[in-house]
Amino acid sequence: MCGIIGYWNTKKESFKILFESLKKLEYRGYDSFGFATLFNNQLFLTKQTGKVSEAKCEASPGTLGIAHTRWATHGKVNEKNTHPHTDCAGKIAVVHNGIIENFQELKLQLEKNHLFLSETDTEVIPHLIENYLKKGMNLKQAIIKTGTLLKGRNAFVVLNSDTKEIIAFRNGSPLIVGIKKDNGCSEVFIASDIQAFLDKTKNVMYLDDNEIVIVKEIPEFYDVKTGVQIQKRIIKIELDVESAEKGDYSHYMLKEIMEQKKTLTRVINQDSKELMHVAQKINNAKGIFFIGCGTAARVCHTAEYIFSIVANKHVNFVPASEFENYKHFLVPETLVIAISQSGETADVLDALKIAKKRGSKIISIVNTPNSSVTTIADFNFLINAGPEKAVASTKATTAQIVIVMLLAYACAGKLIEGNRILVDVAGKVNDMLNPRYNQHIKNLAKKIYQNQNIFIIGRGINYPMALESAIKIIEVSYIHAQGFAGGELKHGPIAMIEKNTPVIALVANDELKNEIISNAIEVKSRGAYVIGIAPENNEVFDYWIKTPDVSEVVSSIVNLIPIQLLSYYLGTFRGHNVDYPRSLAKSVTVK
Ligand code: F6R
Repeated sequence: MCGIIGYWNTKKESFKILFESLKKLEYRGYDSFGFATLFNNQLFLTKQTGKVSEAKCEASPGTLGIAHTRWATHGKVNEKNTHPHTDCAGKIAVVHNGIIENFQELKLQLEKNHLFLSETDTEVIPHLIENYLKKGMNLKQAIIKTGTLLKGRNAFVVLNSDTKEIIAFRNGSPLIVGIKKDNGCSEVFIASDIQAFLDKTKNVMYLDDNEIVIVKEIPEFYDVKTGVQIQKRIIKIELDVESAEKGDYSHYMLKEIMEQKKTLTRVINQDSKELMHVAQKINNAKGIFFIGCGTAARVCHTAEYIFSIVANKHVNFVPASEFENYKHFLVPETLVIAISQSGETADVLDALKIAKKRGSKIISIVNTPNSSVTTIADFNFLINAGPEKAVASTKATTAQIVIVMLLAYACAGKLIEGNRILVDVAGKVNDMLNPRYNQHIKNLAKKIYQNQNIFIIGRGINYPMALESAIKIIEVSYIHAQGFAGGELKHGPIAMIEKNTPVIALVANDELKNEIISNAIEVKSRGAYVIGIAPENNEVFDYWIKTPDVSEVVSSIVNLIPIQLLSYYLGTFRGHNVDYPRSLAKSVTVK
């Protein structure tokens, strides 16, 4: 959450470059944004509330600058709380991503001699640096001293007008350096995500936790604990710019849903030796925990069903934020499998810390290469879905399910069969995502978008998918949606069903088909408008969305596709910017 950037060069004006780069980080937070540039030893600050992509700003001068797009944690959304924040003298500007858990005690001390202008935790950083500079430290020393005082996961970039330096500190939140050399002009970027400068350079250097970097022509990295300089390699990354752009689509969300035509085929293409190697670890483990947050947690929940059906194996699902309660069960032979699109989710990282402490082994299923989760894990499966920019996860979700299935089939010694089934489903999803299918779902959205409530029911593997459906609908349409196990409905929730309440039944052609149809009949007799997402039509359905006739496990993928499209159209009919739902951010790097 929050996107931060620093930009160094000697020739070009920085503002326009920062402005364009910041737009690419908007998915990380879009409550407000700000810039600081340096010209003639003076800092120029620009701050606005709202989205940078919708803003018009007058450029400030200077070749060095920093910028920030905010997801508010401490303090309301207003200009006062917008980054960059400065010290009393207005010489040190700071942009920050993270939460300073001990900011109150730090602020209490600082307030004796420093004037605070905002309600943010961030503002302690420039004042602390100011203090240490006054005590005779140089900027690098002052930043190391300040950074190591902060509790929690934090990354910040500092621009100092006196020394004309940009220095960044990382401990727990991502920062990546990008380097460009062109016609005698050197440019250096430091940002929360490669996306910020992918159109400028693919040459990157990774900053690790507890390191700082002095951003200059040849960036200098230092270990904050020892003060020793670290040599880093320049890595050329493979991502292409187009994969991170909207192209002809009106929204990233729709683009990413449609990309599942390709992403499913791509993710199946895993190294079978690696799958078998990890499967062996799973088979020999004492306790297997799938952990993740939000939609990724729903995939973890689905893993319980997938492993049960495919490999006759019990695995546990725990939301990462609850994982601490399970720490007593962790031994070195335990396997923890973390699922995360971003690889930066704070609750997942904290859960992995706990697992590491107990000596347990960690496997990750992640979309973002070189993200924090991948550096902690003992083994990583990359889902290769390409950048997912819409806040609502779609293509990453189905790709994560594919990896879980491959692992389950590998555990069962049936990897070839699993591969065949998944190649088949990838083809079926490709067929589903056609304009007629989209239109059919759009027509349904038009019928129900004014409703206050939507319920989704499923049994077996379609129970966690019903929960995931509710997340998708809620986050982009703000219609209250709830998913239930079909059998649970009559133990309370059925009281909510009244005339024309939409109830979506996720049906698979499995043993549970008759039971979920019975549940649909129960709600229909109370007036519900029943929507069947099913391979076959049924008289109980008021509206039928056909899905390919696939096995129970694979129904988790094909049933999600219409739900993703429905959520998209519900959101757009209700006039929302579905890519940037209110109060949400793509990468949840705070607890
Ligand atoms: C919902 C959604 C979120 C994420 C969750 C975890 O559509 O995208 O619920 O799934 O914040 O994020 P990652 O997968 O990056 O760990």
